[in-house]
Order: sequence, then C-alpha cells, then structure tokens
Amino acid sequence: MSILEKIKNKLATVNGGQAIYSDKKRVGKYSSQSEEVNMVEKPNEVEVQGYQRFLVSRDKIVPLDEQLKLKSDFMLPILKQYSHLSSLMDIGASNGYFVFLSNLLGFKKLCLLDHDHDYTEISKKIKEKFNLTNIDILTDKFGKNFGKYDTVLFLALIHWVYSCTSVYGKFDPIIKLLSEMTNNVLIIEWVDAEDAAVKDFKHLNFNKRKIKEEYSEKNFLKSLSKYFNSYTCVGHYQSGTRKVYIAFKDFLDNVNSTITYEVNGRPLQFQYVQPCNLLDEGASKIYFCPEQNLIMKKCKCYLEYGVFDREIFWLKELESLDFVPRLEHVDSEEKIIITSYMGKRINRANVPEDWRKQLENIITILKNHKVKNADLKETEILVNNGKLGIVDFGWASLDGDYSCGIGLPDASAFPHIKELKKENDIFTLIGNKLGE
Ligand SMILES: C[S@@+](CC[C@H](N)C(=O)[O-])C[C@H]1O[C@@H](n2cnc3c(N)ncnc32)[C@H](O)[C@@H]1O
Repeated sequence: MSILEKIKNKLATVNGGQAIYSDKKRVGKYSSQSEEVNMVEKPNEVEVQGYQRFLVSRDKIVPLDEQLKLKSDFMLPILKQYSHLSSLMDIGASNGYFVFLSNLLGFKKLCLLDHDHDYTEISKKIKEKFNLTNIDILTDKFGKNFGKYDTVLFLALIHWVYSCTSVYGKFDPIIKLLSEMTNNVLIIEWVDAEDAAVKDFKHLNFNKRKIKEEYSEKNFLKSLSKYFNSYTCVGHYQSGTRKVYIAFKDFLDNVNSTITYEVNGRPLQFQYVQPCNLLDEGASKIYFCPEQNLIMKKCKCYLEYGVFDREIFWLKELESLDFVPRLEHVDSEEKIIITSYMGKRINRANVPEDWRKQLENIITILKNHKVKNADLKETEILVNNGKLGIVDFGWASLDGDYSCGIGLPDASAFPHIKELKKENDIFTLIGNKLGE
C-alpha cells in the first residue's frame, strides 16, 4: 500500500471538506496515537502503557522508556521553576505523565485534556486509585476555551492540530486560544516540518487545501509574539527539530532569561539585567538588547502615581539632550519603555576624570528645563565611553508640579515621597560610592 493510500485509510471523519485524522486500528472516536493504551495495576502503583510508558504511585513517577525519560529530564527543571504558580493544564496530555509529575511538584489545581477516550479513561482510573481530587480530566478536542490556568502545556501537539486532528491551517487562532487559556506561562513545543516523525507521517498533508499560511517556525513565532508579551526558547531535548518555547503573559513571569520582544515588527532578543528601582527591587525590570544597544524597562509598581507616563513625558521633553536616553518605543498596555543604551552605572572602573564637571553641567541644564528630580541617586548616573548619562525620570516634577502641566497624577501623595525628596547631594553619593 502506498503512503498516500495508508493516509487515506486512516481518515476517520470527513466534514465540511475537512478530514479529521484518527487511527483506524484504534476503536475510539478520536484516537490519533497508534499505540494501544493499557494499565497494569499493582498494590501501590500503576504501570501505564501507551504513547507514554511510566510507573506512577502516590508519591513517585518513573518514565519507563528512553524517549519519555529524556523529555521528562528536560521538562523537570522548567516545571519546577513555575510550580509556585498554582494551576496547570496539559493539552494533548496523552497518558497524563506531565500532569501527574506536576502534581508531585506542587501544582495545586491540574487539568488534563486529550481527545483520546481510552487514554483519558486510564488517567481517570489513576486519579481514582490515588484519590487525586485536584486533577480534572477532560476527554475533548482542542478547539474551545476549557478554562484559564497559570501554566499551560502544549507539547508535541502543534503539528497535529495544525491540519490533522484539528484543522486550523494557520497559527493565529491556535495561539490566540492558548493565550486566552493562559494566566502566566505557556510551555509549547515547536515541531518542525523537517522533523523525522512529521516527514514520515505527513501530518501536514491531511488537509493541505485548508492550510492558509506556511507551517514554519517563523510564522509560529510571529503568532506567539502577537498573543503573548514575550517568549524564550529553552532548547530541545532530542533534536533541533523539536524546540521548547516558553511564552509569557507578563514580563515578570520571566525569570532571568533571554526573551524575544517585537519592536516595530522586528523580533529582538533582550537579556534580563536587573531590577532598576532600588526602592523596591520588584518595581521595574531592565532588559538589554546587545544587537541594537537598546534598553527595555518594564514598569510594574507605582503606576497609580504616574511614574510610567511621567517618564515618557520627560524623555520626550528632553530628547535633544545627549545625556538623556533616546525614546525608541512605548507599549502603554504592557508598561514598557524602550530607549537607547546609556552605559553602566558609574563605578570605579568606568568613572571619567571629569565626572564632577560633566555632572555639574547636566544638573545646570536640567535646572534650566525645570526638571526637579525627587529621586536622583548615584544608581541613575550611567557612563558610556567616558560620557555621563542620567536615567529614571518617573518621579521628576516640573519645578515641583508632578502633573507636569499635562494632568499626570499627583505623586506627592506617595507615602515615601518625603524620603525621596530629602536633599540628597548627588556628588556626595557618587563620591562615597567611588571611595573618594
Ligand atoms: C504526540 S502526543 C504528545 C503527548 C504529550 N503532550 C507529550 O508531549 O508527551 C499527542 C497527544 O495529543 C492528543 N491529541 C492529538 N490531537 C488532538 C486534538 N486535536 N485535541 C486533543 N488532543 C489531541 C493525542 O491523543 C495524543 O495523546
């Protein structure tokens, strides 16, 4: 039998010109995996057979085949990293290995979804045996919103739902739906068209006429950027044709890694640098894009005092001054400001000899522009190739007026404003830091 005939043989449901794949050898309505599923019950544990083979007990889970062990070892630190988030859903969960593992890692509320009835029945039996009342098990097709979870897993599934077991034919609706179901992070595996399994099985050929955009990583990532705040590739567990991406609903869910963020339609790589506001280490985060020499500041706190809008106001107002960062991009929804890179904080290694003269000049010019920075600290004085720069204008008033004449909130209501306002002598602060 030719491959094409084999494929045609396997088409179970045809509706509206769409063929929904199901394996003919398996009896279920939607049974796309060829592996028969089974379970062997032992007094305190269950051995599961099928696409994922593993041993599970109340307090342990052990993969039984090399493939799953490889993937499990890869996924373990990633899942641990997000186990402080409390809920998790695994879509296309198969025998539920990653749900049972996540349960042991401390996720409190879990949900397993698979369209394969035989597979989910086994998971239900495991749930019952170990009284895992915090796990919901759904037998359904991916295609509607099944609820919102902090962490969503979508592993080894994109090539199936694209045009085989569901028929989307493009990435936007898939990623949009996933974003609607995700509170914090989506962990999604990209399976390339060049992947050996895809080449052999030809998942992408089932509904060729329904494909509306090329199944490519580039298009996949374009959709990820569209519906998520940023994403990062955490590598692969097997071959480069299967990569795992983490997509973030919010920057603050991204822990110390490189992220991709689109600036004017261009995906750029940013590295997490440090929280910039020393008053509260979590008030904002700073990322650096070495390729374009850009800094991204994600503001999180004190927004009610207008710090985000005031910063933008001043960056625009002072744009002609070369010691002030050049404003490149604003994302008001995400509270992101992207500016030119102004160097590193002033320190003994980078301090120019004439730093006092440069700083005096900066302060005089800022005074002429009526900038009264309530919050000038040595950490806001940067140095790039011997030139001083100044950053962070969120608390800077227009000669005492926090509305800056454009109706911004009155930051003087901020309980700590007095502390901020106390006349710090910036020269002494820097001198102390430099050990002068
Ligand atoms: C290749 S397996 C991946 C299993 C698991 N996510 C992993 O990475 O180990 C794909 C799983 O998704 C399920 N599946 C395929 N298409 C689906 C769809 N349209 N809706 C729901 N489940 C689907 C299959 O039954 C199978 O269990």
